[in-house]
Amino acid sequence: MSKISLKVNGQTVNCDVDGNTRLLDFVRESLELTGTKEGCAVGECGACTVILNGEAVCSCLVLAAQCDNATVTTIEGLALDSIGQKLQTAFIDHGGVQCGFCTPGVLMSAKALLDKNAKPSEQELLDALEGNLCRCTGYQPILQSLHAVIDN
Ligand code: FES
Ligand code: FES
Repeated sequence: MSKISLKVNGQTVNCDVDGNTRLLDFVRESLELTGTKEGCAVGECGACTVILNGEAVCSCLVLAAQCDNATVTTIEGLALDSIGQKLQTAFIDHGGVQCGFCTPGVLMSAKALLDKNAKPSEQELLDALEGNLCRCTGYQPILQSLHAVIDN
């Protein structure tokens, strides 16, 4: 077991974790933040994306024990700031959600990008989202939703 202390969605969390506990399981099971989804479990689908120290990461590929002193934002923390709130509204207004399974990961990848670069080029936007697969193939409404934030 390792003792970790980190900030999750602005709240300090102190916990003992097993060395093999993934960040994905830690947020879903220990913190009961079940908005983060598990798809492939091997870093290929992006459903498990969270923001770790400012970077979008696949939480299925990160160990919780590596997150001591880290700052983590999950989908539950999306609406804590104005970029997250704008993303949330845009996805509702522009039909960016179909079944919703990919949506938390897409939103966290988009937020990580917009936190650093409020006016990304189309290529920068596509690069940021390249790890997020949508099994409903709803890429067009996802991009329209993101443009509603970026272009306004
Ligand atoms: S569940 Fe982590 S990338 Fe698919
Ligand atoms: S909305 Fe269903 S997987 Fe993307």
